[in-house]
Amino acid sequence: MAETPKTASLTIDGKTFELPVLTPTLGPDVIDIRKLYAQANVFTYDPGFTSTAACDSAITYIDGDAGILLHRGYPIDQLAEKSHFLEVCFLLLYGELPTADQIEDFEYRVTNHTMIHEQMHNFFRGFRRDAHPMATMVGVVGAMSAFYHDSTDIADPWQREVASIRLVAKMPTIAAMAYKYSIGQPFVYPRNDLDYASNFLRMCFSVPAEEYVVNPILSRAMDRIFTLHADHEQNASTSTVRLASSSGANPFACIAAGIACLWGPAHGGANQACLEMLREIGSVDRIPEFIDRAKDKNDPFRLMGFGHRVYKNFDPRAKVMKQSADEVLELLGIENNPTLQVAKELEKRALEDPYFVEKKLYPNVDFYSGIILDAMGFPTSMFTPIFALARTVGWISQWKEQISDPQLKIGRPRQLYQGVTQRDYIDVENR
Ligand code: ACO
Repeated sequence: MAETPKTASLTIDGKTFELPVLTPTLGPDVIDIRKLYAQANVFTYDPGFTSTAACDSAITYIDGDAGILLHRGYPIDQLAEKSHFLEVCFLLLYGELPTADQIEDFEYRVTNHTMIHEQMHNFFRGFRRDAHPMATMVGVVGAMSAFYHDSTDIADPWQREVASIRLVAKMPTIAAMAYKYSIGQPFVYPRNDLDYASNFLRMCFSVPAEEYVVNPILSRAMDRIFTLHADHEQNASTSTVRLASSSGANPFACIAAGIACLWGPAHGGANQACLEMLREIGSVDRIPEFIDRAKDKNDPFRLMGFGHRVYKNFDPRAKVMKQSADEVLELLGIENNPTLQVAKELEKRALEDPYFVEKKLYPNVDFYSGIILDAMGFPTSMFTPIFALARTVGWISQWKEQISDPQLKIGRPRQLYQGVTQRDYIDVENR
């Protein structure tokens, strides 16, 4: 016997409306309110989208209460342990883990798009040397639409594919160039015999004056950081990409919008803010003072790297990141790093504090990533560009999914208008 479709009833001023209830493969049911305004002349109110599903998606699933993150069904800890970033890129973009032939072909295609148009070097040189690398990245990625006209037609599946590969391939080159430019060193061209993470490290840290050999331990740690940041379903930057794309904007413009959104300290900028905070705390004995400040309603200070809109439990990425921080610092012989000591003690004390326990505030992915990146030699200003580099594949996967959806509509939220009602214009002499 066929199941009766679920519905929800909404009664307004004595009149009842039946709303369809959609059932996902995982997660809570979703009330379909698309026809509500037409039928009942009301809007729903949900600033910050705390209870609103804005799209269908089959890419990433998060259970924030259980601390679960799945990409195409695979748990993030298994991917971080057993897979590597380009394989995860393939998984996100195409839905399945690749066969040996498929990954070889994918790696070949990505590797052969790592260089950027030579004229873009001049574009970089237009920025001030002291520009934040994120500022440079927003500009340069947006400018890709001016350099790659042959992959901006979103109606053409082949151009969409080329744009996707270009973005995944060129983002490390662009991020490394933004860094090199900011420190006044020459740009380093990509090397196609290196894997994705090693190539990025080399483009950041090698100089023409001497040979640079990539440390495989650091390259593995870098790859894991990329994997842990690859996608996170409908977060602020991904939703920004989707909203930009809903108007039919080209992929490079959409990804530039995502980078801009990621930059904020409440989102991708938290890794930079977190390391700066840990350094400001400086020693374990100052932790109580900062915990008190984070709890004080009259002080805007928050513990950076703590709390998450969706996770009300451990961020599963933070667990892997913490383990990675231990490994990297030990291998580099700096396990007594004072910032790591402060981070571990701060985490322990916050998790024992009723304020953080009651509000379900746990460390997020950014709590430990900065410590690893710092140990690798990156300045704090590069933390968010590295996040943007890694998240690009998530944005692109979500963008591809969205524009192939026949239900695609331009994103257009409504509002609860609280301004003055209609009034007549007053001539200046009478005001
Ligand atoms: N330190 C102290 N208190 C906090 C923190 C924190 N880090 N985070 C949340 N709270 C408190 C808030 O003051 C609020 O208290 P109240 O209910 O008494 O007013 C309560 O917890 C809920 O906080 P909201 O801001 O309403 O929660 P929201 O889901 O909107 O915010 C966010 C999530 C933005 C991540 C927040 O926890 C935060 O600002 N954290 C620090 C920044 C950070 O680490 N961001 C990275 C997020 S992960 C990522 O983007 C990769």
